[in-house]
Order: sequence, then structure tokens, then C-alpha cells
Amino acid sequence: MGFTKIVPLLLLAAKAALANTPIAVSDFTQNGGLAAAMAAAPMWYMASGTCMPSAAEDGEGNQTNGVDADNCNINALANGCPTQPTWQGANTFYGNVSGEPFFTIPTYWASTFCNGDSSGSDASYRIIYYVYFKKDTGHKSDWEGIVVRFTSPDGGNTYTRESVIMEQDGNHVHISWSDVNDTFQGDDDWQAFAQKNLDHGKFYFGKFHHSVHQDWYTAAFKNTCPPLSADDYRNSDYQFWAANNLRPVSVLNPNWVWGKADSPANIDICSY
Ligand SMILES: *[C@@H]1O[C@H](CO)[C@@H](O)[C@H](O)[C@H]1NC(C)=O
Ligand SMILES: *[C@@H]1O[C@H](CO)[C@@H](O)[C@H](O)[C@H]1NC(C)=O
Ligand SMILES: *[C@@H]1O[C@H](CO)[C@@H](O)[C@H](O)[C@H]1NC(C)=O
Repeated sequence: MGFTKIVPLLLLAAKAALANTPIAVSDFTQNGGLAAAMAAAPMWYMASGTCMPSAAEDGEGNQTNGVDADNCNINALANGCPTQPTWQGANTFYGNVSGEPFFTIPTYWASTFCNGDSSGSDASYRIIYYVYFKKDTGHKSDWEGIVVRFTSPDGGNTYTRESVIMEQDGNHVHISWSDVNDTFQGDDDWQAFAQKNLDHGKFYFGKFHHSVHQDWYTAAFKNTCPPLSADDYRNSDYQFWAANNLRPVSVLNPNWVWGKADSPANIDICSY
């Protein structure tokens, strides 16, 4: 009799402790690692008025053309970029965009095993998640994103999210997974903020340079170029979830040229 009362409590405790859900090695090795990429797929955020993301290819092997930079002209920041859907409050879905080939903007990804990497000498799996924009304020064509690093808590049977590395104007900023400000578990809690250590991170693109951050910045520079990446204006206006359209980097021809930006097809993930 007492057993039936104890078991649910144990289950609750186990569930709370398993937030950063362990991922089996096979999820990293089968299908190029698609199941692992799904398991940690980020949610991306953009501020109103920025040049919104685009698909980098049309699904038929054609590269997307970039558009000319605006060089900090707030009145031209979104010129040539996809039309922004009507804002409906925080977490407005950015998708089903006229002229875009996919309902949800693609996140291009790849998974790899690293026998030592730019974060440490321990074995890791790493997954790159990258998004294309037709420009940032200063460059035609722009690639931005993150690398999530997974290490094993159990001698190599499973891997959990250990840290994330964010592209910020050419710098790669490492933070531990427990320092990602906003994480969520899935369909039930994706609109929540300020939850820590769950499976999926929320990442915020700066309005002008699209630098990637784990937090907002709304104190200044809403309408002018920021002096530092850290000051690039960002908030929760628009979102899309990478899990809804993960495309492998193999659909990107490595010979395609993107101005000064590197596509994730040409990025060395272990040294990132
Ligand atoms: C895209 O690629 C397809 C297949 O290679 C080709 O038939 C088509 O003309 C291309 N479209 C454009 C707009 O370049
Ligand atoms: C997508 O956009 C079109 C055109 O704006 C609209 O007619 C359609 O209902 C939208 N579909 C969904 C599923 O939102
Ligand atoms: C984390 O997010 C919460 C709620 O969104 C916010 O109040 C807080 O300032 C954020 N912390 C940092 C360091 O950005």
C-alpha cells in the first residue's frame, strides 16, 4: 500500500533531475546525428525592424542571393529582406513568409565527434546550428549561429549539453549550458523565459549585426548601430524553432561564395 504513494514522488524527483536529457551516442551517429540535433535544437529570436533571416538555398540546389548592406541606416535596415509578419506580442512566429521557399526558415546543422576541441581535451560531440540572412547592416550575406558542445557524464554511453559557443562579430563566445538564460523543454513550455538547464536554448540575434547572445539588450541603440556586440539591440519580438526545419549543411555547396561570411559547410566545428 505504502508503495503506491512513494513511487510517484520518486518519479517526480527523477523527472526534475533529468532536465538536460542525456542523448544516446547512436543519436549522434545515425542519420548524421539528426536525432541529437533535434534534441538540442535552439529557438532563435529577432527584434522588430531587423533584416529577418532567409533560407540560404531554395531546396532545389540554387543559392540565395544577398542584398546590399545599409551601413547603419535605420530607415534601410530591412531593405531587400523578407517582409516581417505583423507583430502579435512577444514570441510572434516568424514563418510562412512571402517569397521564402520553406514554411519555417531553415537552420543548417552538422554534428561531429571531437577528440579534444577548442573548449578542452575531453571527448565531445558538437553540433553547429546556423542561420542565413541576406545582409547584416554592414555586409551583403550574413551567416550566424551557435555550436553546442556535449560531453559524457557516464564514460561515453550518453552525452549531455555542456556549453554553447556563440558567434559575435567574428568572436566565438563560450558559456556553460547552465548559464544559458532561457531554456525550455519542448512544446509545452516554449513560450517561457528564465528557465535554466533544460534541453533547448533560446538565442537572440542582435538587430544590426545579428551577433548571437543568450540574453536581451534593450537599454540603448534601438535605432543606431551599437559600438560593441554586447550592445546590439535584441529582445523576444519574433521567434522560430530550429526543430521545425533542420537542414543538413550538405545541401550547401561549399564553393558558394557569401562575401565575408562563411557558410557552416566550410566551418571547422571542433576548433570553433
Ligand atoms: C533552381 O534549380 C533548378 C534545378 O537545378 C533549376 O531547374 C532552376 O532553374 C533553378 N532556379 C533558379 C531560379 O535558378
Ligand atoms: C501562409 O500565408 C498565406 C499568405 O499570407 C496565408 O493565406 C496562409 O493561410 C498562411 N498559412 C498558414 C498555415 O498560416
Ligand atoms: C534573464 O532573463 C530574465 C527574464 O527574461 C531577465 O529578467 C534577466 O535580466 C536575464 N538575465 C540576463 C543576465 O540577461
